[in-house]
Amino acid sequence: MVITIRCTTGASTLSKMGVSPITSVFSPRSANPLSLNIRSLSAVAQQKLQNEARPRTGILMLNMGGPKTTDKVGEYLHRIMTDRDMMQLPMQSRLGPWIARRRTPEVQKKYAEIGGGSPILKWTNLQGELLCKQLDRVSPETAPHKHYVAFRYVDPLTEEALQQIEEDGVEHTVIFSQYPQYSCATTGSSFNAIYNYYKTREIPKNMKLSVIDRWPTHPLLAKTFAEKIKAELKEFPADVRDNVHILFSAHSLPLKAVNRGDPYPSEVAATVHMVMQELNYCNPYHLVWQSKVGPLEWLGPFTDAALKGYVKQGKKHFILVPIAFVNEHIETLHEMDIEYCDELAKELGIDKIRRAAAPNDHPLFIDALTDIVTTHLRSKQAYNPKFLTRCPHCVNDNCGLSKTWFQRVCRI
Ligand code: FES
Repeated sequence: MVITIRCTTGASTLSKMGVSPITSVFSPRSANPLSLNIRSLSAVAQQKLQNEARPRTGILMLNMGGPKTTDKVGEYLHRIMTDRDMMQLPMQSRLGPWIARRRTPEVQKKYAEIGGGSPILKWTNLQGELLCKQLDRVSPETAPHKHYVAFRYVDPLTEEALQQIEEDGVEHTVIFSQYPQYSCATTGSSFNAIYNYYKTREIPKNMKLSVIDRWPTHPLLAKTFAEKIKAELKEFPADVRDNVHILFSAHSLPLKAVNRGDPYPSEVAATVHMVMQELNYCNPYHLVWQSKVGPLEWLGPFTDAALKGYVKQGKKHFILVPIAFVNEHIETLHEMDIEYCDELAKELGIDKIRRAAAPNDHPLFIDALTDIVTTHLRSKQAYNPKFLTRCPHCVNDNCGLSKTWFQRVCRI
């Protein structure tokens, strides 16, 4: 049996070589239809074709990830609760899984209420595709570019993404944190996972590795948030618009981590100030913190408590801004939209409250990502020196080992 197919990979090269890219003929027993075409070419042409198909620059997009479906919630929570870079619990290997099992039904219910799963993979893939398309255009010398999603707690896991990069034969991998502000619990944990992966194997000899670990004050990131806020301000009647209170809300973290010297609070505050500068300080604003779990003390003031406090002070109009999230997920779609903007707002008698959308696929945000990567590629700086420093009171040996390893292997 013979089948005629349309072959798209390497089509332009085939065309230039006088071989029709439209049709190839292969037998179903053949594993790779393209290989039949390749075999009919000269060795030089074969190499050229293979090079064209191979991404020269891989963009490894680090993030926490979220369960795509409710049946993935259990393993997602299990991975979080047993990650000692994310949190340190007594007897963690036993207590962590127990907490994860206990919390699973409640968290599953929340995911069911936002449509059955986290949209973070959808957004990260879209951001990666748009980013690489722009990179191919503005940085042809490092093209072709390909993005790889590297989640910490759900598929596609960081380890799987690194395997794929190796299989693709990428020449330069840029590890690009998708958390604009660095925290040891999030960004740091992802970098430690990369170090753990390479502890037992060699980096491919021909692959360069470099790091973008934070970008809290990038002007286009600030501009993106400012545009989102302006759009929401327009939804308020003109006579109250100037008094709408802007609450920048970020995921909180335990005070123990803050006192160790985690840079996250100061970097989130830096983003807030960049955004307000972009808005010409048009409205009153405050930075607040959300998503506390467990009995320990966490960084406040908390978003819900701040709303209560401001309502007591007579304020009735608010915009919530998810300042540390680059795409929608459970903390925006459930905690902010349902718990604060709907349920709590009704309880408190708030006149009007809106939530600014996360950056998602806003063109300015894609421009921000593009500018961050191109500036990095042209900088000849494999990592920011700050990346190598540890918190002054860090007690996690893994942080030290990981940073020493990155210092040794990164080059650009
Ligand atoms: Fe911050 Fe280890 S906890 S570097």
